[in-house]
Amino acid sequence: PAPGWTADADVVVIGSGIAGLVAALRCRPHGRVLLVTKALLDAGSTRWAQGGIASALAPDDTPDDHLADTLTAGVGLCDEAAVRVLVTEGPDAVRGLIELGAAFDRSADGEISLTREGGHHRRRIAHAGGDATGAEISRALLAELKDSGVEVIEHALVLDLLKDAAGRAAGVTLHVMGEGQPNGVGAVRARAVVLATGGLGQVFSATTNPEVSTGDGVALALRAGAAVTDLEFVQFHPTPLWLGEDARGQQPLISEAVRGEGAHLVDRSGERFMVGRHELAELAPRDVVAKGIMNRMRETGEPCMLLDGRHFGAAMWEKRFPTILAACRHHGIDPVTEPIPVVPAAHYSSGGVRTDLWGRTSVPGLYACGEVACTGVHGANRLASNSLLEGLVFAARIAIALTDDLAAADFTGPADFTGPADARGAAVPRGGGLVAPQARGEIQRIMTTHAGVLRGAEGLETAARELAALPHGGAEPGVEAWEATNLHTVASAIVAAARLREETRGSHWRQDFPERSDAGWRGHLVTRLAGNVL
Ligand code: SIN
Repeated sequence: PAPGWTADADVVVIGSGIAGLVAALRCRPHGRVLLVTKALLDAGSTRWAQGGIASALAPDDTPDDHLADTLTAGVGLCDEAAVRVLVTEGPDAVRGLIELGAAFDRSADGEISLTREGGHHRRRIAHAGGDATGAEISRALLAELKDSGVEVIEHALVLDLLKDAAGRAAGVTLHVMGEGQPNGVGAVRARAVVLATGGLGQVFSATTNPEVSTGDGVALALRAGAAVTDLEFVQFHPTPLWLGEDARGQQPLISEAVRGEGAHLVDRSGERFMVGRHELAELAPRDVVAKGIMNRMRETGEPCMLLDGRHFGAAMWEKRFPTILAACRHHGIDPVTEPIPVVPAAHYSSGGVRTDLWGRTSVPGLYACGEVACTGVHGANRLASNSLLEGLVFAARIAIALTDDLAAADFTGPADFTGPADARGAAVPRGGGLVAPQARGEIQRIMTTHAGVLRGAEGLETAARELAALPHGGAEPGVEAWEATNLHTVASAIVAAARLREETRGSHWRQDFPERSDAGWRGHLVTRLAGNVL
């Protein structure tokens, strides 16, 4: 990891999805802003977002209606004040994206086309390129980034938070992979650190998340002593494309919007099994549909269910869902002439690093936004298409909060990274050894087998034991070992929270506690790491 290097910024933003890009652009008036990202700027989850971005834009819709649907999906655990911020600031935030150049799909009369997805009682989801909404938002924000003066380091894996003597965030250590400068392990000293590192889907064997979603931000926050909450609520998307029982890694998503436009979920006999299970049938909240699919698979012994959109016809598939059509055809399925085999896969972490309404975490100077954060808007189950909106709204609020926060704070610089000579020490995570890269597949197997859609005390105990038995220490510092270590930390934290919550709520489904318990469990579990023990 030598040679070691240091750089300085006023604000360092980690991650380049919608939350990171908006945070970096909005923080620019605060001085020197450095945006660091683990791979290429558009390699994170935002680019893969299909369905769209929800907000009350339609004349027959209101923020209150959006609030009601969000609270229902979150099954009693949403922070209503946070949801109110999301739904009231949402419409203007989306208009701001349009002003920036994001080209949302429009109807013949020029109005923004709005679709429905699970849990929404109104058409309120704006989309772009049919089913390529995230890619268009990412394109528009990256175009804005170009001449913004924000400095960028790609291929930079964040390692740990640096703090000053008073415990305030003072920068981060990074491992930069590449030929140019800087490279190797070094540190950015900064007056504020914004985590926007995205999700953790790679903790499981099959996920809709890209390779880079390894929970780096949650792991860093835990090591830094920040409060992390609601980690047991990992959302499984109901309808990724089924690629066989051994499918591993990132799976092609079949957007909720396909059901929003009228596709039906059926079993092999053609029965619409969601009808009668929920008043919204296929458009029930995501956890309800995922459970409906899993239950029907168990009842029938079938390895997947089917999503039938043949009645759309070729022209609609080509115009409205070009990405999905191409992905299905790539895998030998033609949705125009046959139903699509689907099965739930890990999709989104509703929990994360706990923040207030301004993105502040429990560590002064450390902020979080986007999927890595837990602002309180998702509760036990995120409402479809609220995630891009959350990143957009709350990243902008961090920039506002920093106006006062930066003026009020004393800056004395990192106490634990004083110069390049510290690079070698910084390459090993605080308080523990590195997990070997080879453990990655084993962590995913353990989590999928014992802590996936369906959980129980015995399986969770096995997961905790098997995770604890994976060897720590001795692995050479490097990206693969760091990622495996982060996956291990996050997996252990998810299992710890899932073992404690003895009820079924939202996306946390305990077969041994199948009912919701408002008396015992209408609260949040806060996870902290003490000397690397959860
Ligand atoms: C989808 O398009 O189905 C994903 C939407 C989301 O995760 O909110």
